[in-house]
Amino acid sequence: MAILFHCPWDNADQWLAALQSALPNDEFRIWPDVGDPGEIDFAMVWRIPPGALAGFPKLLAISSLGAGVDALIADPELPRNIPIARLIDPLMADRMAEYVCATVLHYHLGLDRYDGQQARKHWQRHPTTDAKDRTVALLGLGQMGQRCAQHLSALGFNLLGWSRSAKEINGVRCSHGAESLQGVLQQASITVLLLPLTARTENLMDMAAFDAMPEGSYLINCSRGEIVVRDDLLAVLENGRLAGATLDAFVEEPLPGDGPFWVHPKVRVTPHIAALSAPDTAALVLADQVRRARNGQCLAEQVDVDHGY
Ligand code: GLV
Repeated sequence: MAILFHCPWDNADQWLAALQSALPNDEFRIWPDVGDPGEIDFAMVWRIPPGALAGFPKLLAISSLGAGVDALIADPELPRNIPIARLIDPLMADRMAEYVCATVLHYHLGLDRYDGQQARKHWQRHPTTDAKDRTVALLGLGQMGQRCAQHLSALGFNLLGWSRSAKEINGVRCSHGAESLQGVLQQASITVLLLPLTARTENLMDMAAFDAMPEGSYLINCSRGEIVVRDDLLAVLENGRLAGATLDAFVEEPLPGDGPFWVHPKVRVTPHIAALSAPDTAALVLADQVRRARNGQCLAEQVDVDHGY
């Protein structure tokens, strides 16, 4: 049997090498050179063209090469009778936590203001806030959200967490469900989006959500561009409700050159790097998934297609 592989990233060779060494007896078929479709029993893919996964009669399971499965699930021809897994390797969650801590600290310490002052050669100190008095809201409490919570909690921040279903996490005041969102947003001066993109989270951050956030607060989006209503975000950056935003995910990627975020003085853009998958550690996780599928066991990180993640 053979494994289907589709990876549009520029380090696809590094992925293949890592996978080949984790699964030395397997043959990898790189989309679209799939050979005999009846020989493919596992697919490891990222942003494969819609419909591409429909024609493999012996396919046992599919794993995403990233944490998000929104693009996979959006494929109307995705086989519905086989398990689908997202990829969470320990390094990805650590990378996300590093990105979130760096960005939260940037705003917490007022470094965004000092960047502006330096540009004007202006020497002025601003009052500081202790971490225990800074409330940070984490929207999304999956593996990424939980790792961020551990790291932020070690830095002493006051943490709120919000998720679809109830969670209990040490050091985080957790709430769940749509009706509690506004209350969470009202209390935090920094809100971090770590949510999967689903029908429930699409456009979640709209004007009503921004209006709930305190004047002068910050948004960090590490999940998907579709979760934020772009024009509402631009409006609240303009009217001062938001003092700044760091955006790592966009509806269109790469972000087009004429997009307003590139040049917005209150926005920091990063090119979707908050939690890059790490081929060497990910290959070990994927090899285990292949063994599980072939032994008829449940996959780890299996996706509930109805919930969308
Ligand atoms: C990246 O966005 C991922 O889903 O892993």
